[in-house]
Amino acid sequence: MKHTKVIEKPQDLIEYRKKYSSIGFVPTMGALHAGHASLMKKASSENELTIASVFVNPTQFNNATDLEKYPKTFEADLKTCGENGVDVLFFPQFSDIYPDNYRFKLSENEFSKLLCGAHRPGHFDGVLTVVLKLLQITGCHRAYFGMKDYQQYKLISDMAKALFLPTEIIGLPTVREASGLAMSSRNMRLSAEGKDKAKLIYATITQKTSPDKAREILTANGFVVDYLEDIADRRYVAATLEGIRLIDNVEI
Ligand code: PAF
Repeated sequence: MKHTKVIEKPQDLIEYRKKYSSIGFVPTMGALHAGHASLMKKASSENELTIASVFVNPTQFNNATDLEKYPKTFEADLKTCGENGVDVLFFPQFSDIYPDNYRFKLSENEFSKLLCGAHRPGHFDGVLTVVLKLLQITGCHRAYFGMKDYQQYKLISDMAKALFLPTEIIGLPTVREASGLAMSSRNMRLSAEGKDKAKLIYATITQKTSPDKAREILTANGFVVDYLEDIADRRYVAATLEGIRLIDNVEI
């Protein structure tokens, strides 16, 4: 188990990471699970310095209750970092990340308007803006993202290309529970019964049925489906159960 150093101020992190020639970065909003652990392990196997961040980014939440209820588990998160090779945990406050109070933001005008973007206005502006800030602060050579949030991964990867960022954006496969349920920080808010039912999401999108039929199956089982769509070679779903919004996607 590594001792993970906690740094709170961007300027302190910029100073600290200067002497390292290869830096891997795992951005998170905390409530870490096995999916995050797999990103951390990969980052620490490929870089001299591994940085993770825990920052629940308010600008990407379009729903105040969702933001308020986002799980906060700092001590457990710090332990997960140590167990998975993270050298530095960056743990800033809103004013550290947004000294401009979100006067400047980054937008994408095509893919970000579909799927989660269509149902969560402003969500991807918040994601792209915070990730760009975090990439700048960490000065990372490689940044690691889970493919459970495939739309997010693709938008960040395209942003890095469009803005000539020096960071390599790496997407790693979704880590799933034995039931097939995609690991997510939100799963810990589900009841035992809800968690059992939530496995239907993966079971349904991997069936050889039309998107309409798959949506029907989930709706009949008590899910409120935001979208269930095929785009290019992927099937994407967002569905709410017990008031908790879950997303997943698979290659088709
Ligand atoms: O995927 C997440 O946890 C967040 O969207 C990210 C990338 C840390 C940005 O806040």
